Amino acid sequence: MGSNWVVCNCKLPVVLGVLWVLGFLWVLGFLGLAVQGSVTYDRKSLVIDGQRRILFSGSIHYPRSTPEMWEDLIMKAKDGGLDVIETYVFWNVHEPSPCNYNFEGRYDLVRFMKIIHKAGLYAHLRIGPYVCAEWNFGGFPVWLKYVPGISFRTDNEPFKREMQRFTEKIVNLMKSENLFQSQGGPIILSQIENEYGAQSKLLGTVGHNYVTWAAKMAVEMGTGVPWIMCKEEDAPDPVINTCNGFYCDAFTPNQPYKPSIWTEAWSGWFTEFGGPIHERPVQDLAFAVARFIQKGGSFINYYMYHGGTNFGRTAGGPFITTSYDYDAPLDEYGLIRQPKYGHLKELHRSIKMCERALILSDPIITSLANYQQAHVFTSESGDCAAFLANYDAKSAARVMFNNMHYNLPPWSISILPDCRNVVFNTAKVGVQTSQMQMLPVNTDMVSWESYNEDLTSIDDGSSTFTTTGLLEQINVTKDASDYLWYITSVDIGSSESFLRGGELPTLIVQSTGHAVHIFVNGQLSGSAFGTRENRRFTYRGKINLQAGMNRIALLSVAVGLPNVGGHFETWNTGILGPVALRGLDVGKWDLSWQKWTYKVGLKGEDMSLNSPNSISSVDWMQASLIVQKQQPLTWHKAYFNAPDGDEPLAVDMDGMGKGQIWINGQSIGRYWTAYAYGNCNGCSYSGTFRPPKCQLGCGQPTQRWYHVPRSWLKPTDNLLVIFEELGGDPSRISIVKRSVTSVCADVSEYHPTLKNWHIESYGKSEQFHNPKVHLKCSLGQSISAIKFASFGTPLGTCGTYQQGTCHAPSSYDILEKKCLGRERCSVTISNTNFGADPCPNVLKRLTVEAVCAPTSYQPSWRG
Ligand SMILES: *[C@@H]1O[C@H](CO)[C@@H](O)[C@H](O)[C@H]1NC(C)=O
Repeated sequence: MGSNWVVCNCKLPVVLGVLWVLGFLWVLGFLGLAVQGSVTYDRKSLVIDGQRRILFSGSIHYPRSTPEMWEDLIMKAKDGGLDVIETYVFWNVHEPSPCNYNFEGRYDLVRFMKIIHKAGLYAHLRIGPYVCAEWNFGGFPVWLKYVPGISFRTDNEPFKREMQRFTEKIVNLMKSENLFQSQGGPIILSQIENEYGAQSKLLGTVGHNYVTWAAKMAVEMGTGVPWIMCKEEDAPDPVINTCNGFYCDAFTPNQPYKPSIWTEAWSGWFTEFGGPIHERPVQDLAFAVARFIQKGGSFINYYMYHGGTNFGRTAGGPFITTSYDYDAPLDEYGLIRQPKYGHLKELHRSIKMCERALILSDPIITSLANYQQAHVFTSESGDCAAFLANYDAKSAARVMFNNMHYNLPPWSISILPDCRNVVFNTAKVGVQTSQMQMLPVNTDMVSWESYNEDLTSIDDGSSTFTTTGLLEQINVTKDASDYLWYITSVDIGSSESFLRGGELPTLIVQSTGHAVHIFVNGQLSGSAFGTRENRRFTYRGKINLQAGMNRIALLSVAVGLPNVGGHFETWNTGILGPVALRGLDVGKWDLSWQKWTYKVGLKGEDMSLNSPNSISSVDWMQASLIVQKQQPLTWHKAYFNAPDGDEPLAVDMDGMGKGQIWINGQSIGRYWTAYAYGNCNGCSYSGTFRPPKCQLGCGQPTQRWYHVPRSWLKPTDNLLVIFEELGGDPSRISIVKRSVTSVCADVSEYHPTLKNWHIESYGKSEQFHNPKVHLKCSLGQSISAIKFASFGTPLGTCGTYQQGTCHAPSSYDILEKKCLGRERCSVTISNTNFGADPCPNVLKRLTVEAVCAPTSYQPSWRG
């Protein structure tokens, strides 16, 4: 802490790397072996072993889940129709101090790559090493800031030296494990730098020189697979420039011989403490993907496919939440999010049916009407695939294509792999919706005990120092802790008028971020917070001073270091002042240039109270003896047994304020139950998406539940430790499990008078006349109740369905008969099945919400 990092001289590994490559070439030459694989590209696509490919990819960041979860996530991604798994490489977790590397546990990049390979998928390795990613300091180690003479991401020798050293470290590690496709491994693509375009333009020649250097440096590493730069228009050859965004159909690569690659198709958006949850409707995401493909795009990566969790202090910032769910097809806990996952899976299957036509030809675009177009791909060998698009955000359209009529919902694309039959429309969601909930488990928190940070002796220890004036926080903490104490004293004369009934003095504290708690003579007297948009803030509050010496202790709190913005490494954190008192007899008293005593971190952190090994180093107080539950700066601990089953678990922090959580010594992350401000008035899938459009959770804590990986638990006596900054009631903390509680389906009937209905149905002949509703609970669960069923014109969405004007009275009976007690069921949609037509000449739907419950809890009527 606070010690000076020496810049290490890492020449040795570089030299070894060069020797290794030479040795490798020599062996190849000697044995006369050809390189096993090859990845190149042309204007149409990546070319893998001589084959052009349309590829779907998904971001899964290995440190955002546990190694025990990786295989399941990757297999679910494969099952969802992905070909490629993409990940950034996170420098700061791999090299916590110079030349001191960590590739263990969640940071075991090699193991992650090998699981991808074993699953038969490809990998895209985005080394960066700047990654942004809502990750602490954008992935840079904080020590990098203190390398003499350094300036990040520009034509600066110390920075380039460190960037090259780490890039080589990763490339050599991958090579040593034969992980590049050219060596028979999964990696088909690598990224250098990240979203540098805007900064490059700003810096002009210097920026251009840096980009040119980075490209050359990367290419010279000889990985045998192409390099990309995202959001970098002037990416030098042979590096491919790629697109990130909500839509990328307006994107064209910077050379006609480069393929169109979409490195980040944003599946949702991140959340910040105090903000709402953002959802991106799958109909719009599918529409965006189809738009990119119909324009000739050939590689799409969902950012994120599984967002996961910012464990520990890895969240970027400030104020990025611990959950990095991102509204991704696999939720934070690794569960399938329906209908997002299933609808995209069908999209992938439909596009793959067009693959030959797509890779062999360029689209011919024709206008069908004002806002409707056809993109048609026809190859010489007779393949034909068509995309019929309706860009109108308000109205459906009926268009004529190849002498046939097609109905296109608003803001949608229909996919015709044979230029005749529609197999998919982006706006028609046929898969079921599932509702997930946090449910109680039968495990109790036992023997709650607490320990208060001792405020009377904060500055007694050896890890404190005193100096004149206010210091920048990260310069002092080097990010070893979120917390830095700023302590000073004020001597108040006994003649001050406020002591005789006058108005109390006001303390003013200007902070450059991110939060501060104010203690006067050991009592919490107030707190203040910045926001992600505006890190700076000013605390202003009356304080209770006494005659004589008073101690003012300011606990400045970092909530994730910035991960984005021009030279974010130079942005300040902490209290840089002024700090002043107003309302004294002298008027204003500026404290900024007084003597200040600093202490990095909390006493509990010094004693590692979060760890099972050192938990007994203090005297804990039984919860029953604590009168004042809302005590700030308090450590709480309790024990619990692992709940049965294998559903994902979380800790419910309702009732607590802000702080950090550990289980068996592993950090779950920061928590903060700040309420979400936003506009949650619902949204339509149709029309250009931006995150503010679809907000959820307004008026509730942005994040109430915190993921507890199953693999971090023992069967019994798991130690839960909480550090609470503000005050809260730990007796309300509980462990919950995440389960699919109900599934919904909403499918239209076949209507004989809508002649072209058949071309919009799914390819199979069974579904041609008889569409079906399919319902499926998770493994080990079955349908215990039909919460809603209506064949007719029902209203609402999953969870809030209501009967419409038309409703077949037999709806519940039919569904109960076919589905109750079963893990999955299907019901054919036809008038005969429901007794009689409840409303002739009206297009009807069958809409169902079924409750899923563990099979063992089924009532006895099954037997
Ligand atoms: C923090 O440290 C850096 C590097 O040593 C220095 O350039 C900078 O001026 C310091 N910031 C402040 C506000 O003191």
